[in-house]
Amino acid sequence: MTPETAAVDRVLRSTRSVRKALDLTRPVDDHLLLECIDLAEQAPTGGNISSRRWMVVRDPAIKSALADIYREAGGNGIIQLAERLRGTGHASERVMDSGAYLAERLHEVPAIVIACIWGVHDNSGKPGLFDSVLQAAWSFCLAARARGLGTAWTTLHLTKADAVAELLGIPDGVTQVVLLPVAHTTKQEFRAAERRPARDITYVDHWGHVVLETGGDAAVVEVDIDAPVRAVNAALESVPPASIGASVDLQPIGRRVRLRVMAPVASLGSTVSEALAALGVYAERIRSAAQQDR
Ligand SMILES: Cc1cc2nc3c(=O)[nH]c(=O)nc-3n(C[C@H](O)[C@H](O)[C@H](O)COP(=O)(O)O)c2cc1C
Repeated sequence: MTPETAAVDRVLRSTRSVRKALDLTRPVDDHLLLECIDLAEQAPTGGNISSRRWMVVRDPAIKSALADIYREAGGNGIIQLAERLRGTGHASERVMDSGAYLAERLHEVPAIVIACIWGVHDNSGKPGLFDSVLQAAWSFCLAARARGLGTAWTTLHLTKADAVAELLGIPDGVTQVVLLPVAHTTKQEFRAAERRPARDITYVDHWGHVVLETGGDAAVVEVDIDAPVRAVNAALESVPPASIGASVDLQPIGRRVRLRVMAPVASLGSTVSEALAALGVYAERIRSAAQQDR
């Protein structure tokens, strides 16, 4: 690996949502923000049309009003939730605590950047709106990280996007997509996040077909279940995944649960399609039992 590749990988691996490590006391020079925006503008854009616009908010009174909107739009809810979760060991305790920290101090962040695009989504399914701005906004975050600046991807304010538009004079027909607090960071090292390995979530030639590290084929079926974890666990106990040679994991998502069932193809049938069908029947059985029990 060349030093250049290692440096790029490091930025890609360590660009976290920075909240508590934002240095609220150190100013951020305009030229740094403009460099990041110039780099972000290298991202692809539908039709090669220059439709992205970047709002940089620095004025203390405007930042204060913007932070009020952020809190009203959901920040206050995060602050209350963080209070309730404190000390419980809940899976969301840390992220809520960090989110609350930012919500309480957003007005103190040296610069707030809002990525915008000319256009309003028409739900036509055609590319060219969010698809032309999100990648640039993320490039901004990466360029910022490479310069010792931290950002946090935030969207809570979007339920009050009209109020933000009025505050900042953003015209009708322009869509805001993300609000990024930007500051130097009080530390330089940020850990890689725990994410699912590529092999678990990369399907080859057919949705749900996984090629295992050992070289064998596996089938994966995922279903979202509208029931609490307790009900899903009860359903899994009554029909254990081991009975069909499968393993499962559960991911709570709000009040729902995403159930992921996985088994080697060879243990379920001779083809990927047969294995997927067998797992699909099992997953549906668990879903229906859990939803009845909720
Ligand atoms: C679509 C989206 C919306 C988000 N909205 C907020 C937000 O409003 N406030 C906030 O503090 N963090 C927000 N986040 C940051 C997530 O909490 C964060 O990405 C997640 O906890 C993973 O942490 P990491 O970014 O450090 O890997 C958002 C992230 C995404 C992708």
